[in-house]
Amino acid sequence: MLDSATNRPELPAEIARRRTFAIISHPDAGKTTLTEKFLLFGGAIQMAGQVRAKGEARRTRSDFMQMEKDRGISVSASAMSFDFKHFRYNLVDTPGHSDFSEDTYRTLTAVDAAVMVIDGAKGVESQTQKLFEVCRMRDLPILTFCNKMDRESRDTFDIIDEIQENLAIDVSPASWPIGVGPDFMGCYDMLNDRLELMDRADRNKVADSIEINGLGDPALAEHVPAHLLEKLIEDVEMARELLPALDPQSVLEGHMTPIWFGSAINSFGVKELMDGIGTYGPEPQIQRASPRAISPEEKKVSGFVFKVQANMDPKHRDRVAFVRLASGHFKRGMKLTHVRTKKPMAISNPVLFLASDRELAEEGWAGDIIGIPNHGQLRIGDTLTEGEALRVTGIPSFAPELLQGVRAGDPLKSKHLEKALMQFAEEGAAKVFKPTFGSGYIVGVVGALQFEVLASRIELEYGLPVRFDQSQFTSARWVLGEKKAVEAFAEANKLHIATDNDGDVVYLTRLQWDIDRVARDYPDVTLSATKEMM
Ligand code: G4P
Repeated sequence: MLDSATNRPELPAEIARRRTFAIISHPDAGKTTLTEKFLLFGGAIQMAGQVRAKGEARRTRSDFMQMEKDRGISVSASAMSFDFKHFRYNLVDTPGHSDFSEDTYRTLTAVDAAVMVIDGAKGVESQTQKLFEVCRMRDLPILTFCNKMDRESRDTFDIIDEIQENLAIDVSPASWPIGVGPDFMGCYDMLNDRLELMDRADRNKVADSIEINGLGDPALAEHVPAHLLEKLIEDVEMARELLPALDPQSVLEGHMTPIWFGSAINSFGVKELMDGIGTYGPEPQIQRASPRAISPEEKKVSGFVFKVQANMDPKHRDRVAFVRLASGHFKRGMKLTHVRTKKPMAISNPVLFLASDRELAEEGWAGDIIGIPNHGQLRIGDTLTEGEALRVTGIPSFAPELLQGVRAGDPLKSKHLEKALMQFAEEGAAKVFKPTFGSGYIVGVVGALQFEVLASRIELEYGLPVRFDQSQFTSARWVLGEKKAVEAFAEANKLHIATDNDGDVVYLTRLQWDIDRVARDYPDVTLSATKEMM
């Protein structure tokens, strides 16, 4: 076995054994199935099928109302912890709606690595590519799982070539499939010279590994039929010649991805992947923050909110803030400082996410995700510390790609609408802009389905029917610059100006031409498609 990837040898053992990661994939590649097998082997669930019923992956419009009823459950699926061998895995779910939302991006700010799941017949699909680009922006290490090898799939070299070319990343095979489709019988483990054979009869069973003394070992022929063996030897020799060997450092830096081949539904290749995450997926990393970075081994506890889920119980309007611990050893009951408001917060009922249940968290270490129930004090991007004024940076907010006006079905209830909109804005579910001219609000989202999701949530949670109408604007940009320059710009462009829910100035338009004009005519302000959340 190669050395594991570590760039933080000084970490205490409890932190060093943590692996916090997300799965990125295109819908249908097998994320839910793989998650379920992780939990099964991690001892967090007793049988397959428990996650699928609850998961967010199948969220469609018609599922939505029911899903809302199950909201408490879907929350616990947002972060899942389980142990395997000596590692503690924290899997953070990337929301799986067919639409793309900012939540997905922000989830990736809370993890140290990503597992990219692709379908062996389809290769790299659009959503995988998008998510991959976000991982790349953050230099996240990526481990690849090529799923559904039990079905007809593409040639192994083709799949690897496609990843290398489309994603511009080196690919190193950690395993090599033997046979295709109905002939697929397992993999040759290229890292350990082992044979891993799939059990088609029992989907939840993992067959024992067979130790092999290299490709020349006659024992291979006892397990692999001659016609498959010949191709296997030829392929593996060619792969070793043509493809880069696994370099843990390069994986850590995000330049190389190891790839495992398997079949999640048949539990095949999953344990090898889990071992791989343990070995090559890094331990908790240093967190970017201002005015200084935070190291996980620091004694003092700190963490940041990367997701807020509101109205889990409509009667109470409670919310859970998902906090990634960035440093230290957290214990229940601790008083932490909420840096944005400088107020102390006693964290008396934090929640740990152990797959099927939400459990009270007695403690947590850097790398863990805890849930903090609150009444709206905690917002996305907020930092909690033991007193120091640190602010975690790099949690982005993206300009929405779709804008619509919104009106309350009952005009007398516009105050209620305002309240609902503000809450969704704080939750990060939508952008809400108040134009300087005219009345009403403009709501911005990243994917069209989100308008419908918002409308049904407002109706469900606030008893308020709403209508979305076409807006005269199609693009929104934050106006950045010195306060005076921004004010002068806003004054001169009143018809295009709005404020977001934080009071920041936004420029609305329907023409790219306008955006170009501003760049030309107002050199002292910048129009930005992203804003950092504080
Ligand atoms: P997702 O979360 O990425 O969207 O994918 P999910 O796990 O839900 O899997 C999508 C479909 O692919 C499911 O079939 C699932 O059973 C199937 N699948 C997952 N892994 C494998 C595999 O290794 N081999 C094969 N052959 N199929 C796999 P479905 O018919 O859409 O749903 P279901 O009826 O099985 O629940």
